[in-house]
Amino acid sequence: MTVTVYVCTTCRREDDPADGPRGGATLAAALAAGNEAAGSPVAVVPVECLSVCKRPVTIGFAAPGKWTYVYGDFAPDAADAILSAAAQYADAPDGLIPWRERPEHLKRGVVARLPPVLPLPEAAE
Ligand code: FES
Repeated sequence: MTVTVYVCTTCRREDDPADGPRGGATLAAALAAGNEAAGSPVAVVPVECLSVCKRPVTIGFAAPGKWTYVYGDFAPDAADAILSAAAQYADAPDGLIPWRERPEHLKRGVVARLPPVLPLPEAAE
C-alpha cells in the first residue's frame, strides 16, 4: 500500500529569506530527495496550500483505508523526521500510531485527522 505524504510548497515561515525559497518548497525538495535515497517507500506529493497557513510548514499523511492526518509547524530541515514518521504510519494498519510511539513533533503538531474514506454505497436499481 502506498502512503502519500503531502507537503505544502507555498508555506512561508517567519525566518524564510524574503527573496529566497519558501520553507515549504525547501521541505518538499528535501522530502523528495530523502525519499528517493531511501528507495521511494512513500509518494511525496507537493501541493499548494492545505489551508493551515498559520502553522507552516504543513504536511499530511494519507493512504487507502487509513486515517488521514494533517500536521503543522515543521521546519524546512524536518525531512528525515517526517519520512521516519511516514514509515510508522505505513506500518500502522489503520494509520493510528500509538501515542507513546509518536515522534514528539507529531504529538504537538497535529492539526486534524479524518477517518478513512468509506466505500460508496451501491447504486439502487
Ligand atoms: S500556504 Fe501552506 S497551508 Fe496554506
